Amino acid sequence: MQIDVITLFPDFFTSPLQEGLLGRALVKEIARVNLVNPRRFALDKHHRVDDEPYGGGVGMLLKPEPIFSAVESLSVLAKPNIILLTPQGQPLNQPLLRKLSTEYDQLVLICGHYEGVDDRIRHLVDQEISLGDFVLTCGEIPALALINGVVRLLPGTVGKIESLKSESFEAGLLDYPQYTRPSTFRGFEVPEVLRSGNHQAIEKWRYQQQLKRTQERRSDLWEKWLKSFQSNK
Ligand SMILES: C[S@@+](CC[C@H](N)C(=O)[O-])C[C@H]1O[C@@H](n2cnc3c(N)ncnc32)[C@H](O)[C@@H]1O
Repeated sequence: MQIDVITLFPDFFTSPLQEGLLGRALVKEIARVNLVNPRRFALDKHHRVDDEPYGGGVGMLLKPEPIFSAVESLSVLAKPNIILLTPQGQPLNQPLLRKLSTEYDQLVLICGHYEGVDDRIRHLVDQEISLGDFVLTCGEIPALALINGVVRLLPGTVGKIESLKSESFEAGLLDYPQYTRPSTFRGFEVPEVLRSGNHQAIEKWRYQQQLKRTQERRSDLWEKWLKSFQSNK
């Protein structure tokens, strides 16, 4: 997987792309991240990438020319997907991460800044994605979240592929509670069944916990899961 990031702040990515599972996956070349600064493509001698909005208003907008030129400078693979990170886009979720990790061999992520981007940049992109219903100062954090979530799903990043299956959202349910040693901590006990060695009972308990947690915490997911469970019966 090739991931090109159009960012005014390449240094933002240094540590997150080097640490932990993501860092190891990039060393193993499961994915390659290429950081491109649109300032290199600014047309004037001051390398300006932003300007005031037509019609007035507060803040500055990213100009279209450096972003178009930065994207057009990239080598294009067979199945690219050009994405603008924006709070106005499709909300990022696990099915969307899975789609991005399986249907494309190249993701181009455009990070906005300031008050946002000149709206004509939308003509350049295949898709707009939001990290959620809140506004951040920049697109770098959503881009990192997307990269982390996509690379995590690529074969070879996570040791045991089974460990992904019960995780929250994978089957439309939240994950079950998990515990490690010690078995008693400050009076809180690890549930007996998990120490029983009875794998069938453990499986059953975990599944029941997934149902319980989802029902208690996420009525939206629960309704959806119930509907698909009933239609698959
Ligand atoms: C301050 S925001 C601009 C918000 C824009 N004026 C609006 O209300 O839609 C600056 C940049 O941060 C990024 N950004 C902020 N919040 C985001 C979110 N929830 N999801 C994705 N990108 C976001 C986008 O790239 C955006 O262009």
